[in-house]
Amino acid sequence: MIAVASDHAGYDLKKEIMKHLDEKGIQYKDYGTYEKQSCDYPDFAKLACDAVNEKKADKALLFCGTGMGISMAANKIKGIRAAACSDVFSAKYSRLHNDANALCLGGRVVGAGLAAEIVDAFLSAEFEGGRHALRVEKIMSLEK
Ligand code: RB5
Repeated sequence: MIAVASDHAGYDLKKEIMKHLDEKGIQYKDYGTYEKQSCDYPDFAKLACDAVNEKKADKALLFCGTGMGISMAANKIKGIRAAACSDVFSAKYSRLHNDANALCLGGRVVGAGLAAEIVDAFLSAEFEGGRHALRVEKIMSLEK
């Protein structure tokens, strides 16, 4: 199960990616926003990331205008390692090396086609562990 969430600026791209997930038969739950009225991305980052922390979802896909604000908000939530990506390579390695559990995309930055490839790379790559495990542990030990 994938948790998806956006603000108004990420709403259209979120909808495109939801269609893409439908086509791939990947289950997801949309934690809002459900309309294009201006809203605050930290509220929706929190809802989707809480679902990850509560193990209702394996990962979160988060969308705002740039992917930046919603990633900053997500990375303040204990247990979350959010990667803001505009390319396939970064998305893949955010999983392989960083064990990212949230991917953040900018609706004003990437088109739907590229975003779908970024999402596919993120969802299909597995954490390599090994030497990266200690580094991820060190990231998590920085949480207050
Ligand atoms: C909303 O206008 C915009 O600031 C927001 O979606 C995001 O891009 C912030 O990082």
